[in-house]
Amino acid sequence: MATHRIAAIPGDGIGAEVVAAGIEVLGVLQERTPGLSLTFESFPWGSDFYRTHGRMMPEDGLRRLKGFDAIYFGAVGDPDLPDHETLWGLRLAICQGFDQYANVRPARVLAGVPCPLVGVGPGDLDWIIVRENSEGEYSGAGGRVHRGLAEEVAVETSVFTAAGVRRIMRFAFALAHNRPRRHLTCVTKSNAQRHGMVLWDEIFAETAREFADVTTDKMLVDAMTTRMVLKPRSLDVVVASNLHADILSDLAAALSGSLGLAPTANLNPEQSFPSMFEPIHGSGFDIAGKGIANPIGAFWSAAMMLDHLGEGPAAATLLGAIEQVLAGRRVMPADLGGQATTAEVTVAVCGVLRGANL
Ligand code: NAD
Ligand code: IPM
Ligand code: MN
Repeated sequence: MATHRIAAIPGDGIGAEVVAAGIEVLGVLQERTPGLSLTFESFPWGSDFYRTHGRMMPEDGLRRLKGFDAIYFGAVGDPDLPDHETLWGLRLAICQGFDQYANVRPARVLAGVPCPLVGVGPGDLDWIIVRENSEGEYSGAGGRVHRGLAEEVAVETSVFTAAGVRRIMRFAFALAHNRPRRHLTCVTKSNAQRHGMVLWDEIFAETAREFADVTTDKMLVDAMTTRMVLKPRSLDVVVASNLHADILSDLAAALSGSLGLAPTANLNPEQSFPSMFEPIHGSGFDIAGKGIANPIGAFWSAAMMLDHLGEGPAAATLLGAIEQVLAGRRVMPADLGGQATTAEVTVAVCGVLRGANL
């Protein structure tokens, strides 16, 4: 029996609250699943660590994480600290340092969850957004000149490499190929961004020729927002650049019910480094400490982590338990219109797992 070693980085605000809940649920799943063995080591990195040590993680942080099979992450971000330092000091440092270039963001209307779109229910909105996660608008290339002077200049350069675009296109096509509808939509902005986005489109077209059984279309990112709202059934898998997919995935989460539901996997598909799993939401300044964060996004992310670790049946059991709780509509968190706390949702999912016939 293989033991999967998980590094947990709860981080800040509601990130820490939902990761604690996720570890509890995984503990119960493990008790109930013969052959499933997970160990957790928790790293107290984040904004409090920054206040004490002047950095978000130790200098050898990546080296310490490298030997783990996966990373289970909460969120970072503190209202009193500069976001660009805290985010780059931990989460983005891990995504880029471990070359987690494929960011997979499913959005699906689950039974029992009210969808804000009229007449849209389970089966009508079932998407996976594939986000390029290593370069593009988040390359970090740029700088500031003439600091503090009237003529100050700030340059933020998007970097699109052919190798980087090709690998995410191949990943997205392969994912679409393995879904029943086999459809991939490429999001672009090549009408205005005439260098990087044109390369993006060219490599999309070139890769399409390798995947003849996947149907394709292309959307400008602005028009894509309206298609997501007005024609949700027309979409299946979506591939988009780092920033475009960041924005579209929050919209996708809200359209599927709430940001609190949405999971993500930051994958290094070659498995040269551990991959990282987290809800897509942030540290939730406005609700942190109240015990009311929806933990389902963190649970669903844990299911994605189990899948990645080769524990498909356990992942399906966990997803099934989430779906059963939501479909029951008795224990609903505040963001889904209910009154259940994080702890109550966690108890409900654990209860289903305990009663599950595994
Ligand atoms: P956010 O995702 O933290 O919150 C946006 C809104 O959604 C808030 O009203 C919040 O209460 C609500 N929300 C989010 N998750 C929820 C949940 N699980 N249950 C119920 N409601 C939920 O985004 P923000 O306010 O833009 O950012 C706050 C901080 O988090 C910033 O510092 C930002 O940079 C950071 N952030 C970090 C990550 C990450 O570490 N992965 C992701 C996004 C934002
Ligand atoms: C996300 C977040 C991050 C991102 C931020 C916090 C840097 O918004 O995971 O969606 O854009 O990658
Ligand atoms: Mn985001």
